[in-house]
Amino acid sequence: MCGIFGYIGSQQACPLLIQGLERLEYRGYDSAGVCVKDIDLQVVKQEGRVGDLKQLPSVSKLKGTLGIAHTRWATHGAPVKKNAHPHLSKSFAIVHNGIVENHGTLRLMLEQEGFEFVSDTDSEVLAHLIEHVYAGDVVSAVSQALSLVEGAVGLAVLSQEYDSIVVARRGSPMIIGVGKDELFISSDAAAVLPHTRSVVYLKEGQIALLSRSGYEVVDASSGVSVHPEVERISWTLEHIEKGGYPHFMLKEIFEQPRTIAEALRGRLTDKGVQLSVDVSGVERIVIVACGTSWHSGLIGKYLIERLARVPVEVDYASEFRYREPVLSPKDLVVVISQSGETADTLAALRLAKRVGAKTLGLVNVVGSTIAREVDSGIFLRAGPEIGVASTKAFTSQVACLSLLALKLREDKGMPIARFAAELLSLPEKVSSVLELSESIKKLAEEFVSEKNFLYLGRGTNFPLALEGALKLKEISYIHAEGYPAAEMKHGPIALIDEHMPVFFIATKDSSYEKVVSNMQEVRSRGGRIVALVSSVDAEVSKLADHIIVVPYASEELSVVVNAIPLQLFAYHVANLKGLDVDKPRNLAKSVTVE
Ligand code: G6P
Repeated sequence: MCGIFGYIGSQQACPLLIQGLERLEYRGYDSAGVCVKDIDLQVVKQEGRVGDLKQLPSVSKLKGTLGIAHTRWATHGAPVKKNAHPHLSKSFAIVHNGIVENHGTLRLMLEQEGFEFVSDTDSEVLAHLIEHVYAGDVVSAVSQALSLVEGAVGLAVLSQEYDSIVVARRGSPMIIGVGKDELFISSDAAAVLPHTRSVVYLKEGQIALLSRSGYEVVDASSGVSVHPEVERISWTLEHIEKGGYPHFMLKEIFEQPRTIAEALRGRLTDKGVQLSVDVSGVERIVIVACGTSWHSGLIGKYLIERLARVPVEVDYASEFRYREPVLSPKDLVVVISQSGETADTLAALRLAKRVGAKTLGLVNVVGSTIAREVDSGIFLRAGPEIGVASTKAFTSQVACLSLLALKLREDKGMPIARFAAELLSLPEKVSSVLELSESIKKLAEEFVSEKNFLYLGRGTNFPLALEGALKLKEISYIHAEGYPAAEMKHGPIALIDEHMPVFFIATKDSSYEKVVSNMQEVRSRGGRIVALVSSVDAEVSKLADHIIVVPYASEELSVVVNAIPLQLFAYHVANLKGLDVDKPRNLAKSVTVE
């Protein structure tokens, strides 16, 4: 995810900016840049690593004691030099975190005013917009520009005219590091920590002016000065990189209310589903993916068939690519990949393109090979996922597949309001499930020595059972299988005894009663039951040894809410076993070999 760093003081800014960017590297990025002010605003940027930027001769020539810097994780426009930040207008340089949702309209307006754009980014709009409204006061210009912008903005601005940095926070964090006669800014405390532990966390809607004599903070909407508290950071660097969580996986699990909201942001409006995807004439959808992405593909099949009545096939990419699949130009082949680099998924995509099928990618990493090669795409916007076991990318995939299902439904003239409202309520429901983490940890203590686990569910909760089992086996090394609940009696039931605990996903839906009957079958064979439910009734209380209660969500979307306890359970079991949760043995985050 993008990162911002800046400095104003008496030291040379450039080495500090580079160090700041190095501290932000862990967040994931694809290009980086710096702007140092001497007499002019001097910008150097580059695609690739901060290490590459550092080596550029033009960087060592940057002189000046005031500057801003950025690591970019591409969202709008490929990860190439012209799209890297800082972006320049005539007299301003800006770095931006977040998304300017109405960048299209603003860009058009600014172009009509004679502004020339050199990048494909949404962020460049901010530089020109500030220039456009500027009338001698940078803080007012930033405030006015922000009032015209929709979306999330963490912003730092350098002006040609003044020795100052203006920073703003709206929906994207911004911190001021207060040193002795020097100030730092960053979107992330990790970058400020090597210099100072005294920080001001800007609050939503605040703008700060940093100069050589100190800083002033104002509320952007009222223009009234505020006097924020200077806080003391007590965390270590490692803590901060993980946001205070002991592992990236737990941090990523807890990020889900935000990442799901991000996946939906601006894509469900009063005018319907906003996706740049052409689904006209599509008669069949074929989803191909691997691992967790394949599980979300299976959920996508349920969603698309149920909501849009379009037939869907789902295949492992590794099988698809070699089984000579029957495809036609009326098929839409949807490839799902967090990394956008999985070798089998990429090969499946190329095969689909060769035979003339339309292709669509659901990818997290912008600029990845799959993202570049698909005909159209829906980015997951989950931010870098560092834990090898996928969590937040999975729920974002389901959110994006739901959007695709709604788009197909809308195209057929069927109503979407109920599902749209359901989707938009997910972040809040997920937030409340995260509060169960401590109780799920207690549950995990009881199962930490198990050797086997069975996960059962029906409907969309069947693929979720597969995903729950995958999470557990990936990081805790406990053998686990997922099954459709009703299939249990065709085999797995033979394994049921007190050493085969069974995790039932039994939230209220049309098959609830049947799932409860399956519980009965397990109970009467001495199996131990964990039941994930949306309401507790007498029957489940009698049958289950442990009950996890989550908020009710509709049959189509309960899977997003239900995913959270499964992720937390796997995490706590693995952590209690003392295993390397973020880097489980033998597994890779991105599998670029067949
Ligand atoms: C690896 C990862 C999994 C991931 C799978 C597919 O096996 O460990 O977490 O689900 O690859 O990756 P992709 O990047 O294509 O979604």
